[in-house]
Amino acid sequence: MEQLSHVTIIMDGNGRWAQERGLSRSEGHAEGAKSLRACVQAAMKAGVKYLSLYTFSQENWKRPEKEVSAIMSLMSSNIVDALPDFLENKIRFRVIGDRSRISEELNRQIEDAEKQTAAGSDLTMILLFSYSGKWDIEQAAGRFAADYGTPAAKPFESYLATAGIPDPDLLIRTGGEQRISNYMLWQCAYTEFYFTDKLWPDFREDEFNDALNSFRGRDRRYGKVK
Ligand code: IPE
Ligand code: IPE
Ligand code: MG
Repeated sequence: MEQLSHVTIIMDGNGRWAQERGLSRSEGHAEGAKSLRACVQAAMKAGVKYLSLYTFSQENWKRPEKEVSAIMSLMSSNIVDALPDFLENKIRFRVIGDRSRISEELNRQIEDAEKQTAAGSDLTMILLFSYSGKWDIEQAAGRFAADYGTPAAKPFESYLATAGIPDPDLLIRTGGEQRISNYMLWQCAYTEFYFTDKLWPDFREDEFNDALNSFRGRDRRYGKVK
């Protein structure tokens, strides 16, 4: 079977899920948080080592203030609620993105959870939050250029915010759109893609396992001839 170490998900469709039920978009995000928990459990059962999730993009800052603040509150309460579970299940929690745009309080909660779970050895769960692929390449390029030609200079990808995390083997996008939406532009160079019309709040353990099964049937050639 193809090696499956890192699964990444573009969790899309919360707003439409809510709209179909006459609920607010924020209620859709709250339901989506339950899918996130279900997928963490399914990933652990499947022996996945890294599960990363596109939670909030830099473009999403341009949404109405009410929705943005509901997402910030959900992020905050979910981190606090999930912390005991992370510790119990040996989950290492990480957040990657532009932290300068996040409130001090949320930053503190993130840092606290990251510190407390740093020794987690079973699954690394990474939330891409206030993140965009171009932002990451730009910030890496700046630091790379500053080091270039000095003994400190390392390969370019070690300056990306995802340094040390293997590139995704499988990218799942829910919600029916077939686009990358400024996500892991460098890291997805050889990732297998799986698109589904399921809206994110409807994507639970069975749907996650369907995606893994699709991946298992892929033939990854990396440009070579087998
Ligand atoms: C994904 O769901 C969650 C975020 C982008 C924060 P959306 O909120 O984009 O849901 P749709 O695409 O409008 O249905
Ligand atoms: C991508 O979803 C971002 C996240 C899932 C966090 P969007 O709903 O923001 O993407 P577009 O607007 O369809 O490209
Ligand atoms: Mg969307």
